[in-house]
Amino acid sequence: MSAYDSHLVLVTGSRRGVGKLLTEHFLAGGARVVGIARGASTIDHEAYFHISADLANPAAVADAFKQVRALTPSLDIVVNSAAVLTSQYALIMPAASAEEMVQVNLLAPFLVSREAAKMMRARKWGRIINVSSMAVRLEPIGDSMYAATKAGLTTLTNILAKELAPLNITCNTLGISAIETDMLKKLPGDKVAAVVSGLPLPRMATPNDICNVIDFFASPRSGYISAQTIYLGGLS
Ligand SMILES: NC(=O)c1ccc[n+]([C@@H]2O[C@H](COP(=O)([O-])OP(=O)(O)OC[C@H]3O[C@@H](n4cnc5c(N)ncnc54)[C@H](OP(=O)(O)O)[C@@H]3O)[C@@H](O)[C@H]2O)c1
Repeated sequence: MSAYDSHLVLVTGSRRGVGKLLTEHFLAGGARVVGIARGASTIDHEAYFHISADLANPAAVADAFKQVRALTPSLDIVVNSAAVLTSQYALIMPAASAEEMVQVNLLAPFLVSREAAKMMRARKWGRIINVSSMAVRLEPIGDSMYAATKAGLTTLTNILAKELAPLNITCNTLGISAIETDMLKKLPGDKVAAVVSGLPLPRMATPNDICNVIDFFASPRSGYISAQTIYLGGLS
């Protein structure tokens, strides 16, 4: 039997980057996965169901969940990976970019998590995992709004962990370090190299580094692990 046989998983940001690698990881483990992203599906698998939705729009999130509920009566695991990054000095950051980061990186995980929790309530079991960033710890110049949304995501996760504990739903945060994706390509290479070389474990993250922690949080054995944040790369 595979690790995720008969599991129903929802992954946001499933078209690219970390969300896509996690979707493929869950599918390889035997799960059925519903993915949400803005664009059309990039994954061709019989157990994968794609929903195109703009998570920045709360009405679109509500519509997406109508589709999720039509596909499956329940959910076991949710990973909020979708996010946007505009890295810019605060004095010249466009207000619209700052607002988009709040909507996608913070408000959307709140809306997705609570809709998912309503579905998990039926089986009284669930795992909510939110993808955060080393930026919370490093507080890099240019990332005031991005890092603030990710710090807020940890606070959100920890309070959800308390509210959802009676439903046997755990909520945890994975703060990942740099990994080669479209988002990372938006940053200057020298800035990324300087950040990576300054990590206690000075290298880029691999898919396995990320899947390892996701598997830990998602495991049936982790029912007593909630409101925790794990940072990769040796960051505390
Ligand atoms: N890459 C890194 O080095 C790094 C480091 C630290 C933390 N992180 C975190 O890791 C997570 C994944 O990042 P990534 O590098 O994989 O990013 P990415 O390559 O830019 O992919 C982002 C995904 O999120 C989706 N998305 C963005 N805005 C959306 C919206 N409004 N509605 C629906 N979907 C939306 C995108 O959908 P479309 O494909 O349809 O556009 C895409 O599938 C994020 O939470 C990020 O903050 C990444």
